[in-house]
Amino acid sequence: MCGIVGYIGEEQAAPLLLQGLEKLEYRGYDSAGVAVYTGEKLEVAKAKGRLKILSDMLDEGKSLRGTVGIGHTRWATHGAPSDINSHPQVSDSGKFAVVHNGIIENYLTLKTFLMDRGVTFVSETDTEVVAQLLEYYYKKYHCDILEAMIRVIHKVEGSYALGVICQDSPDELYAVRKDSPLIVGLGQGESFIASDVPAILAKTREIYRLNDNEIVRLTRSGVTVFNTDRDEVHKEPVHIDWDVSAAEKGGYEHFMFKEIMEQPKAIRDTISPRIRDGKIVLDDITLTREQVESFRRIVIVACGSAYHVGVVAKYALEQLTRIPVEVDVASEFRYRHPIIDDKALVLIISQSGETADTLAAMREAKRLGARTLSIVNVVGSSIANESDDVLYTWAGPEIAVATTKAYSTQLAVVYLLALYLADLLDTISPEEYESYLDDLQKLPEQIEAVLQNREHIQYFASRNFNAKDIFFIGRNIDYALSLEGSLKLKEISYIHSEAYAAGELKHGTISLVEDGTLVVALASYLPLFDKTMSNVKEVKARGAYVLGLTVEGKTEIEKETDFVFYLPATNTMMQPSLMVVPLQLFAYYVAAMKGCDIDKPRNLAKSVTVE
Ligand code: G6P
Repeated sequence: MCGIVGYIGEEQAAPLLLQGLEKLEYRGYDSAGVAVYTGEKLEVAKAKGRLKILSDMLDEGKSLRGTVGIGHTRWATHGAPSDINSHPQVSDSGKFAVVHNGIIENYLTLKTFLMDRGVTFVSETDTEVVAQLLEYYYKKYHCDILEAMIRVIHKVEGSYALGVICQDSPDELYAVRKDSPLIVGLGQGESFIASDVPAILAKTREIYRLNDNEIVRLTRSGVTVFNTDRDEVHKEPVHIDWDVSAAEKGGYEHFMFKEIMEQPKAIRDTISPRIRDGKIVLDDITLTREQVESFRRIVIVACGSAYHVGVVAKYALEQLTRIPVEVDVASEFRYRHPIIDDKALVLIISQSGETADTLAAMREAKRLGARTLSIVNVVGSSIANESDDVLYTWAGPEIAVATTKAYSTQLAVVYLLALYLADLLDTISPEEYESYLDDLQKLPEQIEAVLQNREHIQYFASRNFNAKDIFFIGRNIDYALSLEGSLKLKEISYIHSEAYAAGELKHGTISLVEDGTLVVALASYLPLFDKTMSNVKEVKARGAYVLGLTVEGKTEIEKETDFVFYLPATNTMMQPSLMVVPLQLFAYYVAAMKGCDIDKPRNLAKSVTVE
């Protein structure tokens, strides 16, 4: 969701900005723009639509001279996608150009304040208010840019990552953030800003992660960070050790497919370092047995697929620890005056660690006195930094908007955590513990086996990619997983689909089943296999065409369904880790056959940093 890149150095800025923005395309956007100081003035180029349109307009950036500039990919919030509403937004006189991620919540009040003082606005964006306000303070107080930035920060409410250049100071670039990610890249004679690492990885691996309201001034000779009192802040550089290829497609047609295929490795990387001598060692968390015993419940908050991990986690955590677990969508939790105190452990799940609702929900839980533990993929992200404890998923960078390997590694961490807590509380026998641990370590090779068999799913997809509605049904943990199967499909293929608890179908939704309706029946939870088969019979009787998914050996499913995909068996709790793979592949192949933009589905963003 929205991308920011900024550059100051000796090289021509525009081509670098466009290359950086290209690396952020995966975040989702609907328009793009750049502003560069050309030697006399700021020049701005913007275009609605794909970055390619802007790039063609500027001959890949070559037609725009200048060595300092800012660039942006916008995902519309205030004002429709259009050339005018795209960023950079400039101030009345054209002195200031600003790119912005986030939302300025009080922009209307500020806009009225400025309009009353004669400022003319051209766009519908909240961002233009920042550009105009900067110029207003800069002129009114005859101050420097740093001072104008500080005044703006004191005035605006909401979230922001801002990149700013000013015609009067062409050898400087400024940036600041609050509740929206922004990093600073450190080079030799050049520096960068970016909303995410891939944008600058080709140029530098040394970065600063900015804290809220730290203002950074970048020049060709270095970077200085200030607080809002103008004091210099000392920052420790962070070294990014990702392999560049981790953020490249590496021969695959889509990032999503590459990331599906990377799951065995990602899970291995996530669990192996945490199992030593037959025991789970979570060095990263500091919870004592007494603390865990004091928790009356666990509350999981997350968004999207991470929320779906939470739904599976409820089954796993309750089964093993016998602590009651609630799962809530972060955007609901944060505003429902949740009943939370220090007897609750709040578990936050997030790939990016920056999702605005999830971050706000975590802050609310902390404010109410809860202990917070996060499961996060991006090291040093806001949620990771602010939670009491963090367990990282070692999935590496995930680029495709539709998550796959992050979901799988989050599940793996949930199993580690559930077993770890159960062991701490003595709610599991040593034999069970050992057997679960064995199963957990086998998952990567079992997933490899499922992936080997992918042509079977590809064939099924080729016969069904024209479906109009698809229903996913299951019971218990299969139901929890069906939520993700359905979401994956609709995210990237735009086919309407719903996930339903198999036993609930007859209370309404079955009225939608008619001749040829595709139903995907998840039946890996063997204690309720027969019950699920009864529900399959109900939809078959109404004409449904059924894909059945179950474990190897359960051949009786063939009598009830039209097409079957078998999965290796593991314990029932971990079965979603295997079962999710054919569901991801099904969504992928259907979307590919429909010619959809798989890695960048319409209207969606990878990291949702606004409410
Ligand atoms: C967006 C992404 C989803 C993701 C959700 C939560 O909607 O498209 O794939 O599950 O945000 O993101 P997070 O980074 O908090 O896991």
